[in-house]
Amino acid sequence: MFEPLLKEPLNLLSRADASRKIANCKLKMETKRSFGQYMTPATVASFMASLFPSPSNKNIRLLDPGAGVGSLTSAFVEHLCKDKTGYCIDVDTYEIDSVMRSFLEKNLDLCETTAAKSGGSVAWRIIAEDFIIEASKKVASLNSLWPEKVHKYTHCIMNPPYKKISSASCHRACLRAAGIETVNLYSAFVALSLLLLEKGG
Ligand SMILES: C[S@@+](CC[C@H](N)C(=O)[O-])C[C@H]1O[C@@H](n2cnc3c(N)ncnc32)[C@H](O)[C@@H]1O
Repeated sequence: MFEPLLKEPLNLLSRADASRKIANCKLKMETKRSFGQYMTPATVASFMASLFPSPSNKNIRLLDPGAGVGSLTSAFVEHLCKDKTGYCIDVDTYEIDSVMRSFLEKNLDLCETTAAKSGGSVAWRIIAEDFIIEASKKVASLNSLWPEKVHKYTHCIMNPPYKKISSASCHRACLRAAGIETVNLYSAFVALSLLLLEKGG
């Protein structure tokens, strides 16, 4: 029903918003519930991105955990590109769901094109893994005697899933190994992301 919208020459965020509506119709009821798939509309994404002050360092490492179709990264890129300052943005997106990832890929491609037109750049990765498991491993390593080299982020924008974590789950065990005790995914995403931000990030 919304597919024709994607063919029009929309700006970055409007396009992400059109794909949000299409993806929403394609998601299964079961994954909506189990992955907490409630996406951010463009107005809210744009407001969230506007809260970031203009960074003094042009090299930005952005984390978008549970990225969905990429609305928040699109809003972030649009926000930083509007004054044509030439930021180099390196983005890691984590997304567990393949339906979301197909839209995410197209929207990140458009972020790359838009940034290039404004004299900057976007390099992106889609990490098709469970963020809790992957980020817990990184944080546990940072806390170990022989920490692996982890590239920390300067910025993070997110709207994580809201769902309870059962006490016997794999998520709970991974989080515990990273020194985090919490009972819902939302606070787990926030706690892990904070630990992956560089000082002042
Ligand atoms: C509340 S939605 C928000 C999506 C997007 N950030 C936005 O604001 O529109 C949460 C997203 O996280 C994804 N997700 C849920 N659990 C995840 C996990 N453990 N690892 C990675 N992604 C996950 C869902 O598929 C969904 O796309």
